[in-house]
Amino acid sequence: MDQAQRLRELVKANNSPKISARVITVTSGKGGVGKSSISLNLAIALTHEGNRVVIIDGDFGLANVEVMLGIHPTYNLSDLIYRNKSVTEIITKGPEGIGFISGGSGIQEMNDLTKDQITYMIKKLAQLDELADIILIDTGAGITNSVLEFVAASSEVLLVTTPEPTSITDAYALLKTLNRRSDFNIKDINIRMISNRVSSEEEGIDLYRKLNTVADRFLHLKMDYLGSVIQEANVSRAVMHQKPAIMLYPNMQFSKKIRTFAKVLCENNNLQGEDRGGIAQLFSRLLLSRSKKN
Ligand SMILES: Nc1ncnc2c1ncn2[C@@H]1O[C@H](COP(=O)(O)OP(=O)(O)OP(=O)(O)O)[C@@H](O)[C@H]1O
Ligand SMILES: [Mg+2]
Repeated sequence: MDQAQRLRELVKANNSPKISARVITVTSGKGGVGKSSISLNLAIALTHEGNRVVIIDGDFGLANVEVMLGIHPTYNLSDLIYRNKSVTEIITKGPEGIGFISGGSGIQEMNDLTKDQITYMIKKLAQLDELADIILIDTGAGITNSVLEFVAASSEVLLVTTPEPTSITDAYALLKTLNRRSDFNIKDINIRMISNRVSSEEEGIDLYRKLNTVADRFLHLKMDYLGSVIQEANVSRAVMHQKPAIMLYPNMQFSKKIRTFAKVLCENNNLQGEDRGGIAQLFSRLLLSRSKKN
């Protein structure tokens, strides 16, 4: 049995009938468009909807969720594999009971895992599927291979875009690059776009229409629209205070919008339930696509 076959077996073995966590990957093309701000505040709003939520930081960013919360996680994903830490040990507790897992260098290191280590890690991640209802993966800046492989392995994606021309072209470039990958299948993925830092609802919808039209025409890739978020000074102010904006300024437009997004996503909770493989399956897919390349 070759490595790819073995991983396929693992993925199958993991398809147990129990309900796994719903995994939503938050990405963009251009960096600094609001992925971490949206991930963090959406996590809080989803908690208020009655979900147990864990954020996985898919990369070491400069203004990532760790910095936004002023937390310093002791462990990261690689400690799960190399230092025998449990899933609960690598989760740092954040406000309102949200959990946070730092990806650290762990995701890159997974390239060199042996079959036994992969089996071990996927078993451990299956525990995370039991601990969380929703897992948000906050990806890093730019169209890197590590961002692309997360997106390609995900079944639900939030694509954050701003009206800046470079943000639109980079979002399109991300979709185009994704579309060329052998591990990407449009049928397996639901992409919802969020227009961030807009000046009006109309601007947000217009942005979505533009991007969706070109993606549909040239890539045969259709996106849904989750909605728009207005540019508001208090969003950055909250970052300075290292508190989630939705808690510090619950009545501003941003917070209201994030709560609406959480409600809409929860309405879809059951729809995604059927073929939900959770975080263990996402990592299995990701490692499977890596092993095919090697
Ligand atoms: N709607 C908004 N109104 C005002 N400021 C915003 C808004 N959304 C995000 N910001 C600000 O933009 C900056 C970048 O946001 P954030 O760190 O969330 O982006 P990111 O996409 O995660 O960045 P990176 O790609 O570096 O990880 C932050 O200072 C944040 O406060
Ligand atoms: Mg970020």
